Amino acid sequence: MISSLSPNGKARVFVTGGAGYIGSHVVKALGEAGYEVRTYDNLSSGNRWAVLHGDLFTGDLGDRISLKSAMEDFDPHAVMHFAAYIEVAESVTRPLKYYRNNTVNALNLLEVVQELGIRNFIFSSTAAVYGMPEEIPVREEAPLFPINPYGASKAMTERLLADLSEANDDFNYIALRYFNVAGADPQGRIGQSYENATHLITRALKTAKGEFDLLQIFGTDYDTPDGTCIRDYIHVDDLAAAHLSSLNYLLGNGIGDRFNCGYGHGYSVREVIEVARKVTGVDFPVAEAPRRAGDPPILVADSGKIRRTMNWIPRFDDLEYIVRTAWEWERTLPKK
Ligand code: UFG
Repeated sequence: MISSLSPNGKARVFVTGGAGYIGSHVVKALGEAGYEVRTYDNLSSGNRWAVLHGDLFTGDLGDRISLKSAMEDFDPHAVMHFAAYIEVAESVTRPLKYYRNNTVNALNLLEVVQELGIRNFIFSSTAAVYGMPEEIPVREEAPLFPINPYGASKAMTERLLADLSEANDDFNYIALRYFNVAGADPQGRIGQSYENATHLITRALKTAKGEFDLLQIFGTDYDTPDGTCIRDYIHVDDLAAAHLSSLNYLLGNGIGDRFNCGYGHGYSVREVIEVARKVTGVDFPVAEAPRRAGDPPILVADSGKIRRTMNWIPRFDDLEYIVRTAWEWERTLPKK
């Protein structure tokens, strides 16, 4: 099936998980660029208010009938698949939950995509597929040795995609491997709003806000300049732009592939804390704590491939800006 374009000449994009943190920023970018968007989300962690463009179809990826009817009726040119569980620590204690949603439900989705003859697929993958990479910055060709079920569940889906595209000339995909995504819509309309957020920047800001007594630094004896872990923090709007670039690339018959999404340089936990204190103006307390299980010491992307292939140029490569947009968003949320 080759679908005709929308009246404005733009493609239709079906977005699973479009009500979540990253998905909603991509829906925003798609809508602003004139694409027709339909979000499919079970609202388990997403929010109706976060979907700024197109319509929202409430349904579960495990429900094939609902999924197929939402997709068939929309007749999309491309599917973007965000809906997934994302907590590394939880994946260790509840692995089947992760394999069920992140792998089995992705398979479900791909079967429907096949049945409907949809050619283009963009997948939210993660730096967690690499595990503890031997070379930093890590390149896409590095071996995949995920060290937790979250990373493994995503790596398996990447494998499904690779095998499917190998077997089928009419199917093309891009897997975007996200590094540490942070920040919020600069206009303050959407941002992260999970229950029990575990990510460093969000925890730091909630501590500054008074929701926690102190911020723990997990591990101060790593082999890094200040002893704390280093990560490559990328603003969510730059990540959203990478999805639009990927979409254009696929629609222009680009060759499917996997791409790192990061800036190519990192900050330590202590550096992030300093920036969070500066932005918030709050000298919130921190405590040194033991290492957290499964944390690689340094995770920084080699982002040359996406820059070269799609001419992706980040606009917000500035940790202070990332933290400021996250802080402005955080302050709009009620204190818990
Ligand atoms: N950290 C703290 N204190 C906190 C929270 C985090 O010291 O309260 C540290 C962590 O130990 C880690 C760094 O801050 O060293 C970053 O931790 P995050 O939880 O913010 O992010 P991760 O690097 O663990 O997770 C990210 C993505 C995951 C992905 C993973 C791959 O969010 O989706 O990278 O390693 F799987």
